[in-house]
Amino acid sequence: MTDTSPARSRLALAADLPLDEGLRLYQQVASHMAYAKVGLSLFVEHGPAAVAAFQRLGAQVFLDLKLHDIPNTVELAAARAGALGVSLLTVHAAGGEAMLRAAVRGAREGAHAKGHPAPRVLAVTVLTSMSAEDVSSVGLSGAPEEAALRLARLAVRAGVEGLVCSPREAESFRRELGPAPFLCTPGIRPAGAARGDQTRAETPSFAVRAGADLLVVGRPVYAAEDPLAAARELADEVSTA
Ligand code: C5P
Repeated sequence: MTDTSPARSRLALAADLPLDEGLRLYQQVASHMAYAKVGLSLFVEHGPAAVAAFQRLGAQVFLDLKLHDIPNTVELAAARAGALGVSLLTVHAAGGEAMLRAAVRGAREGAHAKGHPAPRVLAVTVLTSMSAEDVSSVGLSGAPEEAALRLARLAVRAGVEGLVCSPREAESFRRELGPAPFLCTPGIRPAGAARGDQTRAETPSFAVRAGADLLVVGRPVYAAEDPLAAARELADEVSTA
């Protein structure tokens, strides 16, 4: 793969499509996007074959399974993910410190057993789909942003290397948690693009300036008339931000 874009390692394609379409699309945009995000629907349908198919195209795979279970179960699952050679793996911070530590340990050991570099474990704090009422009804105290920061601190304390957050949260996470955590932001919409269900979306430049390391983008690329042009514009905006 020719690395045509310096921003390539900062862009992930959310391949929320049937596998064959997702693979075709990734091939089109791969010169601008180093990562392919395999989410629950692709993994439930195709399992590790979906991961392997993107890897064969040269993608680094972001396995977005949002694991949340007892520590032993998460450790076993994270080890299987590590053994697949994925680069990024998501877990829910709300699973607690022991579960988070187990995820990091499992991912590392699974990867080492197969000779892969350890994946970065990323913690999801409060789902951006949750309203203030949802947050309090599940028993989390404070406003959603306070709960998210509390969970982010917990994840960092447990040895998790990265966090999934909205571009707005990235600003406060960076300020409060410093330069170390790897921040990954979905909810990206180029200026003027359709927002869809992303009510709190921000532009690529906003996310980069807020401190995001990796931008996850789905619909603005795959619903574009010309996905390659859309990916190129994203990459240009990330490079200049
Ligand atoms: O199509 P779009 O660019 O909105 O895709 C964003 C991707 O990031 C989707 O795969 C979505 O599930 C995921 N995501 C999100 N918001 C979060 C966490 C994950 O949009 N808070």
